[in-house]
Amino acid sequence: MTEHEQWISGRVRGLMPSATLRINTLAKEYKAQGKPVLSFATGEPDFPTPLPIVEAAIKALQAGKTKYTPTPGIPELRAAIVRRYQEKYGVLYDPDAVVVTIGGKQALYNLFQTILNPGDEVVFFSPYWVSYAEQIKLAGGVPVAVQTDLTTGFIPDPGLVASAITAQTKAILINSPNNPTGAVYPREVLQSLAELALKHDLLLISDEIYEDLVYTGVHTCLPTLALSGVKERTVVVSGVSKSFSMTGWRLGWAVGPEAIIKGMSDLQSHATSNAASVSQYAALAALTQDLPELANMAMTFQERREVMYDLLRAIPGLQVALPQGAFYLFVDLRGLPGFQNSETFCRDLLVEALVATVPGEAFGAPGHMRLSYATSRADIEEGCRRIAAFVEKIRGE
Ligand SMILES: Cc1ncc(COP(=O)(O)O)c(C=O)c1O
Repeated sequence: MTEHEQWISGRVRGLMPSATLRINTLAKEYKAQGKPVLSFATGEPDFPTPLPIVEAAIKALQAGKTKYTPTPGIPELRAAIVRRYQEKYGVLYDPDAVVVTIGGKQALYNLFQTILNPGDEVVFFSPYWVSYAEQIKLAGGVPVAVQTDLTTGFIPDPGLVASAITAQTKAILINSPNNPTGAVYPREVLQSLAELALKHDLLLISDEIYEDLVYTGVHTCLPTLALSGVKERTVVVSGVSKSFSMTGWRLGWAVGPEAIIKGMSDLQSHATSNAASVSQYAALAALTQDLPELANMAMTFQERREVMYDLLRAIPGLQVALPQGAFYLFVDLRGLPGFQNSETFCRDLLVEALVATVPGEAFGAPGHMRLSYATSRADIEEGCRRIAAFVEKIRGE
């Protein structure tokens, strides 16, 4: 036990530190030392928040919108979120079915705290976003990861899900477009997963935070499935972080069955109260204004995706699938000669080639690494050149 560790609860001691943050920290240290590090480890768009959003936030501050707001969010924002689902997807919600949170992350955290009793299982898919398993465990739940792999484009096999369901299963958690793989799940697959939820009386949790970043394929908002009873058992989580390049504003939401949303809001009232008032007004502007910048952002991501995909798949020993959405590529490293594990590979790549990536272990997928293409084209070209040289050196050893 290290000094003062006796003060730390078992709950927190058991947490796996976020590997995405760890490698970022090391990359930042290197940068501070003046080393020309190229980072493909971040999970946020590299574009500024569109100016009209920033201006709306400044106006709100100047108008004195600096006080507590209702815990589940200002009525105008909840109404704008309701309108978004209606106009974009044709799904109707009441404003009471919406809770505004501190990022999509808090929505998920509060949701697991609200629905899980000790021992309840949540089925989801590996590779998975780093925080799912830890958040489920913090709520006393049991994470049950069902594998997907590159050969099927990281699309889930509903048959495997069926065999992972037990009497303790409470929910199926879906993340499409996916972090870290970029997979966009086809409607038929979502339909099969929803049928399983109906058959076993499970909740569906749909993390749609990357809903606006889809390049091939079509995003399906889960409650639009033509199956009766799906909307009534689905909680959709989303927010402005990725769609509007607003990660630092910390603004997300959940929409779903009102009893669950009320539970989440009650919990939030004791934990953090409302999301920052200024961020709520910024999000209101994001959802209600015309923002031509966004089409440009999506187009740029799409171009970079193709550049990075072509450069990486030309490197012998690396296997990569063309991602359909989000801004990540997930690379299988296991074909490299003498390959040991991705943690070591990614560390050596950072130390020797000054390229920061995230090892697959962080996503429950050892043997892989994640690269984000939310960075300039010049950096992508130079970074891939460095990776190719690093791999060539390994192959020559
Ligand atoms: C899959 C997934 N869900 C949720 C989040 C949380 O987003 P936010 O920044 O809005 O908390 C992220 C952020 O990286 C993510 O990748």
